Amino acid sequence: MSRQLFRNARIYTPVDQGRPRAGQSQGELAHWPRGALLVENGLIVAVGDEREISAQAGAGTLAETDCGGRCLVPGFVDPHTHMCFAELREAEFSLRLSGTPYLEILRRGGGILSSVRSLAVASEEELFEKTMGRVTTALGLGTTTLEIKSGYGLDTENELKMLRVIDRVAQESPADVVATFLGAHAVPPAFRDNPGGFIDLIVEEMLPAVRRQGVARFCDVFCEEGVFSAADSRRLLAAARAMGFGVKLHADEVHDLGGAGLAAELTAVSADHLLAASDEGLAAMAGAGTIAILLPATAYSLRKPYARARTMIEGGLPVALATDCNPGSSFTESIPFVIGLAVLNMQLTPAEALAAATLNAAYGIGMADRVGSLDSGKQADFLLLDGETPAILAYHAGVSPVAAVYKKGRRIE
Ligand code: NIG
Ligand code: FE
Repeated sequence: MSRQLFRNARIYTPVDQGRPRAGQSQGELAHWPRGALLVENGLIVAVGDEREISAQAGAGTLAETDCGGRCLVPGFVDPHTHMCFAELREAEFSLRLSGTPYLEILRRGGGILSSVRSLAVASEEELFEKTMGRVTTALGLGTTTLEIKSGYGLDTENELKMLRVIDRVAQESPADVVATFLGAHAVPPAFRDNPGGFIDLIVEEMLPAVRRQGVARFCDVFCEEGVFSAADSRRLLAAARAMGFGVKLHADEVHDLGGAGLAAELTAVSADHLLAASDEGLAAMAGAGTIAILLPATAYSLRKPYARARTMIEGGLPVALATDCNPGSSFTESIPFVIGLAVLNMQLTPAEALAAATLNAAYGIGMADRVGSLDSGKQADFLLLDGETPAILAYHAGVSPVAAVYKKGRRIE
């Protein structure tokens, strides 16, 4: 039996009370100025004041680590990424810089459709290596659990291929990885004038195949003008839910199609983006227990106004943060960067942002029973930060203050 004591740490963590932190409680963290964490076989046994925890630990075979007064927080959970892709789209970035809108690039057959073409010709091995590289980058920046979506396949064969690659990453990386099926990410050229026909294909062929494969836990859809309507999204997600998938939406990213309200109606686990979401939609989400997963690096990269995080928190809607890491609208693996944007541009407090990137994010992908906070019984996934408080994550901009990363009690970075 392996027992470890991590002591002399400034510990900050949200406390898991069986649901995501919302409203005022989103910004309330437990804090021990001279704290300790007792770990046994990779799980947290106790957290608290160093003197109490040391007494509880007793003597015997105990590996001790002096954290040197650094800040200790839960490992980050990134609940929305598209890290499984073949090629970058750097030329498109330059096009956007010179004024071509993101959705216009897609309309012309680029954007997501360009990633679909490069994925189709990439070998599974190449896709695995590239995805694994991004996950490793994320781990170094403190992400110990993450979600990865399919959605650059858009046909059964290539969607299943992506999910196999994501599953292999889940097996071979120290990170916990949750897979989401996003077959409805764009309308493939063959269905250009008939997106409803593509939804039929997903419902009748892809969803059953994805369920048989058994990798994806969630089903997601890009509900957006020129992509999938609210009616198509509703039909798809209702079918997915009936097959046992948890449901999520890319909702109200560029235009308000009522995605937030639809997420509430379907009791989706999360609605993500929400830059253009209406007050009514947000209120409905709060009532339904749907989590708002916000992606400030996407607003930053698309030069759009940020989602109204303060309105959401004040309305009792639990807010989570994610990178949206993808080759188009947000090319970053960095949760520290996302926390910086959330604090400085969305007016979250550092404490609210930390809860958003840990416990609420874990709830957003059904992982809160195992990760997201330092509650006893959860995995000992935690970070040491070169700083005194979680504010260092926003304060020390453009670099990572993450000095050490522990997964299940083992140092991995
Ligand atoms: O969340 N909006 C749709 N999907 C991604 C972008 C994917 C891409 O451009 O490759 C997003 O922003
Ligand atoms: Fe996305």
